[in-house]
Amino acid sequence: DPGPDSVVVHGDTPAPRFDRRLFGQFAEHLGHGIYGGIWVGRNSRIANRDGYRTDVLEALKAIRVPVIRWPGGCFADEYHWREGIGPVAKRRIKINTNWGGVTEDNSFGTHEFMNYSEMVGADAYVAGNVGDAPPYEMAEWVEYMTSPSGSSLAKERAANGRKQPWKVAMFGIGNELWGCGGNMRPEYAADLTRRYGSFLKLPEGQHMMKIASGPNEDDYNWTEVMMREAGGHFDGIGMHYYTIPYEWKHKGAATGFDEDAWARTLYKTRRIDTIIAGHAKVMDKYDPAKKTALLVDEWGTWYDVEPGTNPGFLYQQNSLRDALVASLNFDIFARHTDRLRGANIAQMVNVLQSLLLTDGPRMVKTPTYWVFDMYKDYQDATVLPVEVKSHWYAKNEWVLPAISASAVRGQDGVVHIGLTNTDPEHGDQVTLTLAGVAGSAVSGRILTAAAMDAHNSFDAPDAVRPAPFTGATRQGDTLTVTLPPKSVVMLDLR
Ligand code: AHR
Repeated sequence: DPGPDSVVVHGDTPAPRFDRRLFGQFAEHLGHGIYGGIWVGRNSRIANRDGYRTDVLEALKAIRVPVIRWPGGCFADEYHWREGIGPVAKRRIKINTNWGGVTEDNSFGTHEFMNYSEMVGADAYVAGNVGDAPPYEMAEWVEYMTSPSGSSLAKERAANGRKQPWKVAMFGIGNELWGCGGNMRPEYAADLTRRYGSFLKLPEGQHMMKIASGPNEDDYNWTEVMMREAGGHFDGIGMHYYTIPYEWKHKGAATGFDEDAWARTLYKTRRIDTIIAGHAKVMDKYDPAKKTALLVDEWGTWYDVEPGTNPGFLYQQNSLRDALVASLNFDIFARHTDRLRGANIAQMVNVLQSLLLTDGPRMVKTPTYWVFDMYKDYQDATVLPVEVKSHWYAKNEWVLPAISASAVRGQDGVVHIGLTNTDPEHGDQVTLTLAGVAGSAVSGRILTAAAMDAHNSFDAPDAVRPAPFTGATRQGDTLTVTLPPKSVVMLDLR
């Protein structure tokens, strides 16, 4: 029987803040993630500002994207930064061996990325090459980007059009060193992390977080070895967790799926809760003061590519189901903010669980984009712990709580409460007890649709978008909320 479900919001015992970097984006040289997705070049007939497509730029600014991680992914451990600077016509043309075997003309390189991060207003998170480049190459890249003046590299940067150094907020010491980054054992990866990290030096007064290549999913031994052997040599460690409904060889379709696929996707995405907790526990052993951050460097759904598209381009549609995957992840991230200080959805545009899809001059905002929009006031807000009592939603062997929730208090005092109903068939009435939460005026937005796989296409770009929500009433410390089936609701209490 649905309900009576309840949520207690503890406004009087706040938890660590929801780091804005938990809304980070991953942008790899993969398919149309960069080329066509954010970069079209100055001579394009697609509306652009200095070569960056305007529609995508404005959409990213509107949700206050805090971090962009680039250039990969697997691409990072074969990337040589010198091939992507200087006159474009002279840049090296290579094969993108990881993604579709297409040519990579390096027309989007360090300058194009760093300037883009600045235009978006996001921190730059650059992933270095440990896989097939020596430490000096990485060290020189950092110097090229950050050195104020005087050195040959700073002069070269100026000659290439950028006098002032950029700010590199985060730097990855390789990517997936257990896999495409070199198929290493954790012991070897830990040693290389110490070695490469030693030569990443910044000018006086600048700071850059060094991020170690973290574990795949629940590989706790990786975290154990990295923390034991190299802990203290990095500021954060980035785990990866993808939500794959079925198996690697047959992952399942992005749209046109049944309820079994719906339920197993949401069930599997919730596994990240236990996995984050597992890695955090290992880290607590070596770093009880929680100085080293855990990051989810890559997360999101991974389906079969859209029929007829290049299998190496990882292009997939994005539906209401993905919106719920995003909201469930944000609720989970809120439970771990003592250790978890960053996450990058894979990926920003046109790849895997994208926020934006483009087709020539056209662009759509996906349901996932709208969840990032609805939750954006969580950025740097104080987490208010929630206790959720929910009935189970079950389909076949996939059993999960019907209701998920999280809450924060912004610096302006406004409290935001996110609620998700995972049941695609049944609505639910939820009673919230607000302990120490002021604000009698309740407003909100809802994201839902008639079909589980409702999505935005280029012909119908607004099929799924948030609407005003009026299903919440406050009486004293009690808030009663009526949640439709398969919905995400964000409430604001002023
Ligand atoms: O996001 C696609 C790929 O997934 C990344 O390049 C890699 O890091 C991961 O395996």
